[in-house]
Amino acid sequence: MCGITARVGTEDASESLVCSLENLEYRGYDSAGIAVKNGTGLKIQKREGEVSELKAAMAGSGIVGDVGIGHTRWSTHGPPTNENAHPHVDCSGRVAVVHNGIVENHAELRRDLEARGHTFRSDTDTEVVPHLVEERLDAGDDSETAFRAAIDELEGSYALAMLHEDADTVFATRTGSPLVLGIGEDANYLASDVPAFLEFTSRVVYLEDGDVAVLSADDYRITDADGFEVSRPVEAVDWAAEDAGKGEYDHYMLKEIHEQPTSLRQTIQGRLDGDDVVLSEFPAGSFSEVSRVHFVACGTSYHAGLYGESLFADWDVDAQTFLASEYAAHPPAVPEDTLVVGITQSGETADTLAALEAAADAGARTLALTNVVGSTAARECDDALFIRAGPEIGVAATKTFSSQVATLVCLGERIARDVTGSPTPDHAARLDALADLPEHVEAVLESSTAADVAARHAHESGHFFIGRGSAYAVALEAALKFKEITYEHAEGFAAGELKHGPLALVTADTPVFAICNGNNEAKLASNVREVQTRGGPVVGVCPRTSDALADAADEVLTVPATHPDLVAILANVQLQLVAYHAANDLGRPIDKPRNLAKSVTVE
Ligand code: M6R
Repeated sequence: MCGITARVGTEDASESLVCSLENLEYRGYDSAGIAVKNGTGLKIQKREGEVSELKAAMAGSGIVGDVGIGHTRWSTHGPPTNENAHPHVDCSGRVAVVHNGIVENHAELRRDLEARGHTFRSDTDTEVVPHLVEERLDAGDDSETAFRAAIDELEGSYALAMLHEDADTVFATRTGSPLVLGIGEDANYLASDVPAFLEFTSRVVYLEDGDVAVLSADDYRITDADGFEVSRPVEAVDWAAEDAGKGEYDHYMLKEIHEQPTSLRQTIQGRLDGDDVVLSEFPAGSFSEVSRVHFVACGTSYHAGLYGESLFADWDVDAQTFLASEYAAHPPAVPEDTLVVGITQSGETADTLAALEAAADAGARTLALTNVVGSTAARECDDALFIRAGPEIGVAATKTFSSQVATLVCLGERIARDVTGSPTPDHAARLDALADLPEHVEAVLESSTAADVAARHAHESGHFFIGRGSAYAVALEAALKFKEITYEHAEGFAAGELKHGPLALVTADTPVFAICNGNNEAKLASNVREVQTRGGPVVGVCPRTSDALADAADEVLTVPATHPDLVAILANVQLQLVAYHAANDLGRPIDKPRNLAKSVTVE
């Protein structure tokens, strides 16, 4: 949902700003722009479309400057046009601002500013900010005081960076939207997310809500919402620059699918100890007071929650999964002994943050299960548990789903032991299988025939995915992945529900992917026959040992036989590949599906 960045150094900033914008493009790709200061006023270049359009416009433009800000946009207020592209400036062109978030009181501020003679050039909510700063500068304030005064007038969520032609610094602030400083050797940076400047530095400072940062080439200063100077810790990020690149792959999504053996190893590293789990954050007894678990999440993370819920139920832990947006709008009863787990890859999804806030207000204990250290969810919840999947850039979530589920298996074991006083049924076999999961994913990646299956079915009119229990969660996830990147119609159903309505949609042109986790195989095989009787082709996705399903299906994608609780993670890898290859065959922009962005920071 928009990415902002800045660089302050002693050499030209424009090239590194564009590079940072390329790294942030997963946050939005409707338009991109930069503003730099070159001693003779601000120079701005901005273009509708992807960062590549901006890059082309920059070539030979002579736009250079050692202090600069940049923006890549996911449109909220106003269509994706050159005029609405950031940075936005004041009437005099002395102040340029980039913004991620929403200024909720922009209409009223704009009306007042226009009444006082300001001329607006865009439809955006952002443009009020440079005009507010302009007024304060005209009243005699210095740049920092003017910036502070302007943000005092804003309501909503925002991460903002500002350039003023009279200052060799960048001014920035955050409230409700992420912003992190990068502390370099020869330059300092800021961005909505760490991958933006990972090539230049891995030393970071996460800002708190209300902080104002002033960055110069060799220093930075942070003051809190009350204007008092504060010290925020400098942390070392252990992601490497190549982790955030595409490497040898055509798309981030394919790279991230193939990274799953590694990301899963990172997820479970140090967390398995024979037939027990070790979560350093949560020693035995950490959840003794918990009576029930609510998962709140969106999209793929919601499906990971459903997967976890199906496992927790088998382990006698009362768990329920909620769409975060609904939970925030209509919070259910949340007794104090409820643990509310926000599952969120980015840790910045506004709906999930709102649900967690509603839960905290109701007195529940909150836990962020996230990939991003320093994210808002990690910082605002009572506790955090990291999935350690490494940076995920593709808009379609892949490796983070498998790491979320693997983390939930560990968390569930800890909670079940604390709540019930005993290990989960079958825990030793399950934890052994979890240790083997990276190898099993490797085996799927090495032998998958998903590309052939995708080639046969990409062009059909509808794509259905069915399963039971954890395989139902994966049916929903596989359908989301398929529709998100192919733009073809896809739906996931509980296998038993098919005959209660959706079966009416089944024709010879609607392949049904039947996902078997090793449980209830005979029932799933019956559902397969029901589909075939109506002429629908069936692709079974099942362990090698599932003879009944393999015999019933028209074609099969197999996965290694493992503990039934983990089979559906492997099936999901096959279906990620099916979605990827189908989208590729259809010529879709896989890493940047239309209308979407990686991190959804608006409700
Ligand atoms: O960062 P989060 O896990 O909170 O994001 C939630 C959803 O926006 C996300 O999973 C989305 O559904 C993915 N793009 C699906 O591939």
